[in-house]
Amino acid sequence: MNSYTIINHDRSQICDINISDVEKPPRAKIELGDVTPHNVKQLKTLNTVVFPVSYNEKFYKDVLEVGELAKLAYYNDIVVGAVCCRVDTSENSRRLYIMTLGCLSPYRRLGVGTVMVEHVLRHVEKDGNYDNVYLHVQVNNTGAIDFYKKFGFEIHETKKHYYKRIEPADAHVLQKNLRPPALTNGIISHNERHHNEKFNNHDKKSHDHNHHNDKHLNEKNSSHHHHHHDKKNSDK
Ligand SMILES: CC(C)(COP(=O)(O)OP(=O)(O)OC[C@H]1O[C@@H](n2cnc3c(N)ncnc32)[C@H](O)[C@@H]1OP(=O)(O)O)[C@@H](O)C(=O)NCCC(=O)NCCS
Repeated sequence: MNSYTIINHDRSQICDINISDVEKPPRAKIELGDVTPHNVKQLKTLNTVVFPVSYNEKFYKDVLEVGELAKLAYYNDIVVGAVCCRVDTSENSRRLYIMTLGCLSPYRRLGVGTVMVEHVLRHVEKDGNYDNVYLHVQVNNTGAIDFYKKFGFEIHETKKHYYKRIEPADAHVLQKNLRPPALTNGIISHNERHHNEKFNNHDKKSHDHNHHNDKHLNEKNSSHHHHHHDKKNSDK
């Protein structure tokens, strides 16, 4: 199927072309790199362009300390995306919270987001000690919802009025559980049941806690950003 024969009107054959012989452009290179004091400004610029919410100095200070949990994404050596996470250990569970994961719009649907989310999932798998990975998305962000569903995330709950300065203000919590209830022939062992009960009891509370934290983060936007937000919101 990969070879074509070019034939003249008089049916004499000109040549055979084998597609595998035709020179193809080299495949784009997608790589992740560390966030350092030298490139953290690029991360700020990227997040400002991609997200309708702005992040404060503490966000960027913390991100410099989280190692593998914050990465810049390069498309043929150009910064086009970034992911920033933090560990959330509130209420007896250990969760990874994706604070931001985004790609510049001209570079979307090229696999950059996949490389970032797979990096995060590989990290939590390797660690082995996380209960789940979660994030918030605006309820109208169907692109991001479809994207995360591909990687096993589910809409875990919907929070009304989660965002203070953007419309719609409601957010879905997208979550991927990493410890499915361990069923052995349908019977849950005592230890597992104990773990699951603990896990479920604290789940709701820890969301509330984070809700508070993240709102706090959003509210910290300095007033000169407001106009900026409003403009972006109307663009959405
Ligand atoms: C969500 C986002 C990170 C996806 O990044 P991306 O680099 O475009 O993702 P990928 O190219 O790896 O997409 C992988 C798959 O996810 C799905 N997907 C991604 N974007 C989608 C969209 N807009 N609509 C439907 N499906 C989508 C597709 O199945 C896609 O595979 P395909 O292109 O072969 O069909 C990107 O759209 C983005 O930066 N959005 C703005 C920021 C944001 O909303 N982040 C989420 C909250 S943290």
